[in-house]
Amino acid sequence: MKRLFPDALHNLRERGSLILSLTSAESATLAAALEAGRLFFQEPLDAKMASALPEECGYRAFGIEYSQTASHPDQIESFTATARTCADRCKLRDGPARRLYDCMLDSIAVLEPLAESFVALLAKTIGNGAGGSFPTGSLHRWSRLQLNYSRPVTADGDIHDLHEDGNLVTIACATGPGLETQQPDGSLQAIEAALPQVIVMPGEIAWLLSGGCVRPVWHRVRRVPSCSERLALLFFADIDPEACQPWLHNEVNANVDIGERTRRSVTRFGLEGFRP
Ligand SMILES: [Fe+2]
Repeated sequence: MKRLFPDALHNLRERGSLILSLTSAESATLAAALEAGRLFFQEPLDAKMASALPEECGYRAFGIEYSQTASHPDQIESFTATARTCADRCKLRDGPARRLYDCMLDSIAVLEPLAESFVALLAKTIGNGAGGSFPTGSLHRWSRLQLNYSRPVTADGDIHDLHEDGNLVTIACATGPGLETQQPDGSLQAIEAALPQVIVMPGEIAWLLSGGCVRPVWHRVRRVPSCSERLALLFFADIDPEACQPWLHNEVNANVDIGERTRRSVTRFGLEGFRP
């Protein structure tokens, strides 16, 4: 089903990000992943460590990923699933890890078409129908769904320092407070993205493809001490590097290899990204 994004460009210009309401069925699918994650992260550390998968998928322990500097890691553990590596599901033990993985694949099936519809609208609108195409299916092998788990009550400072995700677009929701997004005037504003609502945040690749028409959304997650645990589900949509053709050509993307930028964007956070 094609989704409608009324006044998407206007809202992006006004607020940087977009809030969308999911259908009850879509929301229930994401809620199931959050609940499966809550149960998984209660497992002993050795059981979680046994759920690490190739290409930085499955479980990642605290201390690997950061938002600004390796000296202040993101205050999270995480679990990642991708359509690209879904065959690795069989490497997980039957139990909470496999249940979580299955729920995350179900959530990808909800969020990928949503992201695709949104990006196709941007490409068509900004390119005025003549700009770079956005081939159907070009997000499928280059996007990740990550579930972050934090305990703000005991965290060392902010959960995530100020950053933008460096990708095409992120669609996210969370079970607790703390998210702040930077407004066009530079101020930071608390924003809630609790189901059935999700927040849509363009990243650097959207800025490049759109010739600067869409700004990357800088954001952080503050530590809210009254919050004992917080789960955030984040669909990091990226486009096949071979399909990274600007929707609008101008000085913003002249001589920029956007595909290469896509391949390497997560290295700024201490990750390696997908293997060629
Ligand atoms: Fe982020």
